[in-house]
Amino acid sequence: MLKQETVQIIKATVPVLEVHGVAITKTFYKNMFQKHPELLNIFNHTNQEKGRQQTALANTVYAAAVHIENLGAILPAVRLIAHKHRSLGILPEHYPIVGENLLQAIKEVLGDAATDDIINAWAEAYGVIADIFIQVEEDLYQKSEENGGWRLFKPLKVVKKEVESELVTSIYFENEDGSPLPTYQPGQYISIRVKVPNEEYLMTRQYTLSYANAEEGYRISVKREDEQTPNGKVSNFIHDTLQVGDIVDVSVPAGLFVLEETSAPITFISGGIGVTPLNSMLQSLADDATNEVNFIQCARNEKVVAFSDEIQEKINALPNASYTALYSDEDKLITKELLAEKVADNADVYVCGPVGFMEAVIKNLHEIGVADEKIHYEFFGPAMQLAK
Ligand code: HEM
Repeated sequence: MLKQETVQIIKATVPVLEVHGVAITKTFYKNMFQKHPELLNIFNHTNQEKGRQQTALANTVYAAAVHIENLGAILPAVRLIAHKHRSLGILPEHYPIVGENLLQAIKEVLGDAATDDIINAWAEAYGVIADIFIQVEEDLYQKSEENGGWRLFKPLKVVKKEVESELVTSIYFENEDGSPLPTYQPGQYISIRVKVPNEEYLMTRQYTLSYANAEEGYRISVKREDEQTPNGKVSNFIHDTLQVGDIVDVSVPAGLFVLEETSAPITFISGGIGVTPLNSMLQSLADDATNEVNFIQCARNEKVVAFSDEIQEKINALPNASYTALYSDEDKLITKELLAEKVADNADVYVCGPVGFMEAVIKNLHEIGVADEKIHYEFFGPAMQLAK
């Protein structure tokens, strides 16, 4: 429990820190990587360069501080981040490093305004917040092991590489000894950690599992990217360099964007490579599932679209399902009218794609009266950035 005085100081200083939030976290990362360059093996450098991670961490620390008297309120956000941390192998011993450098950065940016009382209050608050993360993450590590998995990374073998479209290639991973991999929930992702030639540090990225189950190993489907995007270096390494027979460090599947069991209608709406978790969810439905199912897939054109055959085949197998492919090069875009037609009353709607696409779709869904709790979404990038 925090002392009442500490709570008061935290509450009084949150607005000040918010104003300087990005400056503080930028200073924090700069200092931390100077003192602990080994952490560059864990963090995504491109997210750093673009300031994305700074925003994500700043948002979360302040959100936690605002709710310092009732941290239960931020537990859903903590769980989401903890899944990401768990897939990256973040450990309890990393937390004091982050804490020490964060406090140092607050002192540096605020100067004399950062009195001892303020710094001590934030040290105490950070300790409380860090303990919650450590606890939630330890539970997740234990669950991974109970599910026949492992804690951090395990070397898995690339057993198949398959071109899905001009832009997308799938990679299948299996245990080196061929034994079965732990099961997962459709929609979950894995982290893969690779050594890209000419890069000083290891690079870790998350990719959604694009198949419904682990029977043929773990399948990820990777889009070729511009070198400058967060996934560029690793995605292009996967496309150009990674070969069948290579060994890659892989985490146990993680993530909370999963298909919830329901007898209600389901609409899936994908933009671009956002199709990967949604295809996995669709394929997991039993062929005799009686739910009304509508799948809307948006892509640039027929050459780059991935999984349209797999989706169509599954839709044909289901008793009450439809598939709509919209290609923007043909000026076919998702509209409110189409959504009104394809989102049945009381439907659960799963949306995944680039941020702009998701924002537009979610806005339209609200306008046609879909309740927030029926809209499930995930976008690729630091989660709290969208919340902001
Ligand atoms: C990701 C918050 C501690 C390493 C994130 C994200 C948030 C966050 C909001 C983005 C989640 C997403 O991508 O969906 C926090 C908070 C912490 C904390 C509030 C302390 C209480 C740590 C520690 C480490 C760490 C101790 C390891 C030294 C990372 C990494 C990512 C991440 C590597 C992935 C994003 C990237 O590589 O840029 N964290 N974190 N975090 N966190 Fe933390």
